[in-house]
Amino acid sequence: MSANLSPIDTAKFVAARRAVEYVEDGMKVGLGTGSTAAWMVRCLGELVREEGLRIVGVPTSSRTAELARRVGIKVVSLDEAKWLDLTIDGADEVDPALNLIKGGGGALLQEKIVATASDRMIVIADASKHVETLGAFPLPVEVIPFGWQTTKALVEETLSGLDVLGHSTTLRLNGEAPYVTDEGNFILDLHLKRIGNARQTSLVLNQIPGVVENGLFIDICDIVVTGHGDGRVVIN
Ligand code: 5RP
Repeated sequence: MSANLSPIDTAKFVAARRAVEYVEDGMKVGLGTGSTAAWMVRCLGELVREEGLRIVGVPTSSRTAELARRVGIKVVSLDEAKWLDLTIDGADEVDPALNLIKGGGGALLQEKIVATASDRMIVIADASKHVETLGAFPLPVEVIPFGWQTTKALVEETLSGLDVLGHSTTLRLNGEAPYVTDEGNFILDLHLKRIGNARQTSLVLNQIPGVVENGLFIDICDIVVTGHGDGRVVIN
């Protein structure tokens, strides 16, 4: 599976391969979204097909559900599974306290629900995802389409009272049209540059009517498995 990979794909692959070692027979596993998580789903599928690993997977997006089924993982809904042993997912940024920015792939809402409903969340990342302070990566905020421009204005006004460096927000697009999430919502990307108090930022954003969820994952991640281009893996 790892032949002829670029350094970045090697990093993602070795992190994914190491993380699936945490998966045990009979577990209910949350399946993340994104290019790193896709490596993890493919690695799990291989274990299911070739080593008879018996798991059920709860995908965090329609994309991941399709891939999981294709590689042979039994897919169930979160309501069928009720509670999960483990979720493995990627991230856009990871800080030293293992707080995260997620949602670059647009699946932050299902990802946060699934990770929160899990005994443990393991993040798989390449080394470029580690930062001292969150915020260089634009913070995704999922908003309902109704009145989204008013919600955007309220978000911008709220940002002026927070410990952040930037205040511009952009509607995520898919070509000319708004990007639409699996839940039928839009995403605002908040260009904050530096988030001084991620917990406060998350709490305050989620108070705004029209905001469904934001991409700050505070105190949710338990373990970060970091892959490097030379094949090394570091666990925090
Ligand atoms: C999707 C996510 C992804 O996990 C995050 O964007 C990282 O993606 P990648 O592994 O492709 O860098 O949060 O909503």
